[in-house]
Amino acid sequence: MAVRRLAEAQPDTFAFTQENRAWAERIIAKFPAGRQASAVIQLLWRAQDQEGWLTRPAIESVAKMLDMPLIRVLEVATFYTMFHLEPVGSKAHIQVCGTTPCMLRGAGELIDICRARIHPHPHHRSADGALSWEEVECLGACVNAPMVQVSKDTYEDLTGEVFEALLDAFARGERPPPGPQNGRQYSMPITGLTSLKEIDYAADDVPPEGRYGADAGRSAGAAPSAPTPPAAEKSYPPGELLRAKQARRAGGAPKASGADPRGPATEAQKIGRVDPTGRADEAAARAVGEPAGQPKGHSAKVQPPERRSGEDRAAQPRSDRDSETGDREG
Ligand code: FES
Repeated sequence: MAVRRLAEAQPDTFAFTQENRAWAERIIAKFPAGRQASAVIQLLWRAQDQEGWLTRPAIESVAKMLDMPLIRVLEVATFYTMFHLEPVGSKAHIQVCGTTPCMLRGAGELIDICRARIHPHPHHRSADGALSWEEVECLGACVNAPMVQVSKDTYEDLTGEVFEALLDAFARGERPPPGPQNGRQYSMPITGLTSLKEIDYAADDVPPEGRYGADAGRSAGAAPSAPTPPAAEKSYPPGELLRAKQARRAGGAPKASGADPRGPATEAQKIGRVDPTGRADEAAARAVGEPAGQPKGHSAKVQPPERRSGEDRAAQPRSDRDSETGDREG
């Protein structure tokens, strides 16, 4: 992406219209005291809407209104390609996505059309001043590549032919409907539904549980099924699982609340194995040439310690932690 700098030729002053100033004051008042800077993008966008592009006096004016250092507002204005830092076409400024997915799907052809029809170079207006163009980075509609953005609208699933027709419409001062231009809805398959076909999307009476509720897929005439109650979750007293886990690692029985809630530990679990089935032990034994069924204490030496969460480690005695990590005191 090209370096984004303010235009050399700038107007002397900027002032919001009365209506826009009242709007800006309402927006600023939505934020808590001291957090007015959060309104910076909204105010810059409004200033651009008013002027057609974002002038230096407008940026300075927004910085003053929000009590922000000018450099902070400049950082925002020069970072986002939604802000036009020089005059753009009076009817449309075409932002062509030139990132990999769009390029692979034909963005190069769209750029060639811009060069031929608007201006050989980006950021220049057409001869009549109606259109301008630039190449930008990913605009977040990659699934419908290639695409262009015009102000707040995106035009997706473009071909050269469709894009030419769009440019004709913009040049006439029209604003064609945005979105995919190949007939599909959003990013649904162009061939039509490939799943959930049983749902009658045309029906107006959406059930209270939504279209994807328990009966969404049942065939016509079938009796509605009873709602399935959520599976009851097994619960343990607080700390029980942790105590059981620590006890298994230590090779003993859990100290509190009676029996281990998940049953007796296997031999593999007692020595800290990740794989309680023992199959990993057998595979490891074969790899080092040991006969299957080797005493487990032997391979335990080469087995890395089980990874533990921070909570588990915090609850573990310091001496145990040191012995696992090899730390030595003194
Ligand atoms: S790559 Fe073009 S929109 Fe993401």
